[in-house]
Amino acid sequence: MDLMEVIRKRRSIRRFKPDSVPEDLIKKIIEAAVWAPSACNIQGWRFIIVDDQKIKEKIVDDGGAVIIKNAPVGILVIYDNQTKNIEYQDHIQSAAAAIQNMLLSAACLGLGASWICDLPPMGKLRKIFKIPPTFSPIAYVLLGYKEREPIEIARLHPLEKLINYNVFSSEFPQENKNTARLFLYRIARKFYFSLPSKFKKRFLNKFVDKKFVKKFDN
Ligand SMILES: Cc1cc2nc3c(=O)[nH]c(=O)nc-3n(C[C@H](O)[C@H](O)[C@H](O)COP(=O)(O)O)c2cc1C
Repeated sequence: MDLMEVIRKRRSIRRFKPDSVPEDLIKKIIEAAVWAPSACNIQGWRFIIVDDQKIKEKIVDDGGAVIIKNAPVGILVIYDNQTKNIEYQDHIQSAAAAIQNMLLSAACLGLGASWICDLPPMGKLRKIFKIPPTFSPIAYVLLGYKEREPIEIARLHPLEKLINYNVFSSEFPQENKNTARLFLYRIARKFYFSLPSKFKKRFLNKFVDKKFVKKFDN
């Protein structure tokens, strides 16, 4: 596949076969990550390969997406949070570029992958993974063999609506208008994460996750 084809065909995959992923493929994917551009070439990213089912379950029990425990492997990407450029959060941007390289290389190698930010509060992740204070998690990448071929997920906006010349002249996106809803959503999210893990595990996680997986069919 040429690059544009990989870019077009990559989908976020959330349903996997139980087969494990060979270590050399995981390493190839991480190698692709480190060839991404990084602010000042600091390459301040680290990758934590997660293949221990107990750790995956702990992430889910602490409020992470239930799909995390169904993927044979996960890679938690963390970044150096000691940037001078707080305004543009350049090391977060570098880590995001690395993640995109991971997703594209996974697609190229015939693997399924998904970028996951539906994660427990950072403090909890720090504890689980013993992350030092100078690094912070950005996202978790699911990895495995696809259960089935994904369906295409339409892009929401035609190109003409996204492109501006010289000054911003697009319409504002709908979400920006609804600040009250966004505020309530943020409070609900805080409340959800403040609930005891046992309660979430028993009553809420499955419901929340089912809604999510249904929304994104792949
Ligand atoms: C920053 C970021 C966070 C995301 N977090 C999640 C997540 O927590 N759970 C999930 O199922 N998908 C997550 N996704 C994947 C998006 O849902 C997905 O990219 C989008 O629906 C478009 O589908 P596609 O990737 O198949 O084109 C995330 C993607 C990005 C870039």
